[in-house]
Amino acid sequence: GQATHIENYGTVVCCGGGVGVAPLLPIIKAMKQAGNRVITVLAARTKDLIILEKQCAEYSDEVIIMTDDGSYGNKGLVTEGVENVILREKVNLVVTIGPAIMMKFVALTTKKHEIPTMCSLNTIMVDGTGMCGACRVSIDGKTRFVCIDGPEFDAHKVDFDEMLMRLRTYN
Ligand code: FES
Repeated sequence: GQATHIENYGTVVCCGGGVGVAPLLPIIKAMKQAGNRVITVLAARTKDLIILEKQCAEYSDEVIIMTDDGSYGNKGLVTEGVENVILREKVNLVVTIGPAIMMKFVALTTKKHEIPTMCSLNTIMVDGTGMCGACRVSIDGKTRFVCIDGPEFDAHKVDFDEMLMRLRTYN
């Protein structure tokens, strides 16, 4: 795959859901070290499923917690947390990693505000070398392989509905 593109964008909102927070952490750290103002939004169904909060806080200017049931932080969806920041201040880039359905709605939210958004996709992978096609996604109508072309793509160009359908292939 391709390495994450890191630069000083200005203000970056890093938004992670579930175990997506784990791959998000090194991005938060690198974005901070590149001089960005980093606002991290962590989301989960409930308090016990919020992970790596302390580690994220170390490299974030602010951490906002969203839980579906309100057991920790603010009650609400990740998209509300992200949108509140967008309405409050200028955001130059959003990075999102989490379940496909979450990234889909984060992308829809940021598209409305025309904020560049990068997502990291978690498709099914088999060989990881670009040969099996298991990780195939459509980006702006073109076929791409997450294992070699990704995992990060412009979230506004990802066909999330197709990806969600393909994630259920083996059900
Ligand atoms: S995992 Fe096989 S092509 Fe990407």
